[in-house]
Amino acid sequence: MANKVNSRAKDLKAMKTLAIDIGGTGTKAIILDEEGTPLTERGRLPTPQPATPKAILGVIGQLAKGQGPFDRVSVGFPGVIRHGVVFTAPNLDPSWVGFNLVAGLTRLLKKPVRAANDADVQGFGAIKGQDIELVITLGTGFGSALFVDGKLVPNLEMGHHPFRNGKTYEELLGDKALKKIGNKKWNKRLFKAIETLDRVLNFDNLYIGGGNSKKVHNPLPEKVALVSNAAGLLGGIAFWKFEADDPMNRWVQAQTKGSSLPKSTQGGVERRKKPKR
Ligand code: BGC
Repeated sequence: MANKVNSRAKDLKAMKTLAIDIGGTGTKAIILDEEGTPLTERGRLPTPQPATPKAILGVIGQLAKGQGPFDRVSVGFPGVIRHGVVFTAPNLDPSWVGFNLVAGLTRLLKKPVRAANDADVQGFGAIKGQDIELVITLGTGFGSALFVDGKLVPNLEMGHHPFRNGKTYEELLGDKALKKIGNKKWNKRLFKAIETLDRVLNFDNLYIGGGNSKKVHNPLPEKVALVSNAAGLLGGIAFWKFEADDPMNRWVQAQTKGSSLPKSTQGGVERRKKPKR
C-alpha cells in the first residue's frame, strides 16, 4: 500500500503541464512541474491577426512543439470561458464566440486540457489565498479576478464596467488608452481606478499584472503590489492541484475541464419569453 502511494506521488511529481497564455498581442507557453516551477524557457509568438481560432491554435501547436513533451495543458484565455467554451473575446476575432477551446486543443495536442479566463489564471499565480484579493491585468485589455480566501469568483469582467464619463476601465486603461494619453496621465487614471475598485470591493490586497504593469509608477498605494507577468503562466497549475487538495474549488474544476452546455445558456443570459396571456 505504502509503495502504491509513493509511486502515485512520484507520478504526480513527474507530471508536466504545458501552460499557455493567449494574449491580444502575444501568445506564450512554458512547461511547469507539479509544484508550478518552470521546467523550460518561456516561448512566445505574436498572436496572429486576424486572431481567429484556427490561426491561434496553429501558433499554440508551434509553441507546444518547441517546448518538448508534456502530460496535460492549462490555458488562460482573454475572455469569458465556461465549461471550456468561449463566451466573449473582445480583443480577438469575433469567430471565437461559441468556440469550444478545450475540445479544440484536446484534439490538437492529444492531452487533457483545462481553460479559464486569463486574469483568473494570473490570479492563481499571484494570490496568497487569504482574505479578499483582487487581481487586475494591464495589457491589450483590462483583466480582473476576485478571490475570497483563495476561492475564485470566476469571470469577473470589471474591464467592461463603466469607470468614468460612460467609458469602461478597459477603454480608459487598456493599451490603446495608454498609447493615446501617455504614461503620466494613464498612471493618474490608474490610481483613481484603484481607489474606485477599493470602494466597491473593499479588497485586502490588490495585485497588478500584465504587460503594462511595468509602466506603473511607484510608490504604489497601500495594499497594492505588482506581480510578474509570469504569473499568467504559473497560475495554470492551480486547475490541476485543486482536484487533489481542495474540494471547495469544484466550480473551477468543472468549468475549466469543459463539457457540453445546453445551447440556450451559451453566449450570455437567456432571455425569457413573455408568458402568453
Ligand atoms: C476581457 C477579459 C480579459 C482581459 C485581459 C478583457 O477585454 O474581457 O476577459 O481578462 O481583457 O485579457
